[in-house]
Amino acid sequence: EQAGKGEYDHFMLKEIHEQPTSLAQAIEGRIDTRNDRIALSDFEPGTFDDVESVQFVACGTSYHAALYGSLGLNQAGVRSTALLANEYSVSAPPVDDDTLVIAVTQSGETADTLNALRQATAEGARTLTVTNVVGSTAAREADDALFIRAGPEIGVAATKTFSSQAVMLTLLCQRIAADRQGEPPADLESLLPAVESMPSALDEVLDSSDAAAIARQYDDSQSYFFIGRGLGFPVALEGALKFKEITYEHAEGFASGELKHGPLALVTPDTPVFAIFTGQEDEKTLKNAEEAQTRGAPVVAVCPDEHAAVAVADEHLAIPDTNAKLAGLLANVQLQLVSYHAADLLDRPIDKPRNLAKSVTVE
Ligand code: G6P
Repeated sequence: EQAGKGEYDHFMLKEIHEQPTSLAQAIEGRIDTRNDRIALSDFEPGTFDDVESVQFVACGTSYHAALYGSLGLNQAGVRSTALLANEYSVSAPPVDDDTLVIAVTQSGETADTLNALRQATAEGARTLTVTNVVGSTAAREADDALFIRAGPEIGVAATKTFSSQAVMLTLLCQRIAADRQGEPPADLESLLPAVESMPSALDEVLDSSDAAAIARQYDDSQSYFFIGRGLGFPVALEGALKFKEITYEHAEGFASGELKHGPLALVTPDTPVFAIFTGQEDEKTLKNAEEAQTRGAPVVAVCPDEHAAVAVADEHLAIPDTNAKLAGLLANVQLQLVSYHAADLLDRPIDKPRNLAKSVTVE
């Protein structure tokens, strides 16, 4: 097993560091930044012409990637919603043959997600699976499949598969919006080169991260909060999920604007707040972070060096400046590293957290 980890102490850390490569692998040959600017060449132009609305179904970390995709699709002008697959049987919105149901599942074998996919098929929806495993049940059963090519992931806590899912969903959503609207979304021209630069931006984060020092600084805190707005919201949820999965410490993710509607009651000097800035209404997120700071909570801003939040926050985790559709994914890598180092300081079994399984094949 040690041989498989190479120079790293844990598979999780190895997989975090594989992200520049796995992402480059994911996007290779799929986008065309020239003339007709195609966000995703896996599907023939016009494939999604008839799609009226999209429902994403997924669980766990894949649900956060699905939410990321769904919010991006709404921002591109196509009606969409992200649903927890295990809630789908009791509360699915109605579907018809103009509804595209997208199952997001790293393994392609999660029972809850397969159930939702089968229900959607039975009710007449068109289906598509976004997965890492060619030949998986979800890939075989859906009308179409899109493979994220992240390579095998051994650590139970998903890292590189999340990044690849979120980037492939971002491209897929641009593609759906372009087909639906008969023309590429307005910002596609700037988005595609930014996607191509993601591997080097990820390298930059990994080479210069202060996450280990931040984890040490706050290692005896009571709870850890993560806030974000727009595409920063699913990243806040994912940051908290990763943290609780591997450290066993209490962590919660919130939409920044929700902080004042309840969670603020929990905020004290013992609850560091990680604030994610993606370039989507950042001034409001900064105000929310300051509200936590006023109650004594240390704020860690995850944002570019030149961002206004740096002067306000107690600490800073730097990310390169990029397109607002991708910034959250760079922030997420900083948060993966914070979780990893916090769990390592606590000597947790990082690759195999108690009570959790890599793939849950029972309902
Ligand atoms: C399990 C894993 C999670 C994962 C979830 C969904 O709970 O521990 O890390 O996000 O299943 O898995 P999937 O294979 O469907 O992405």
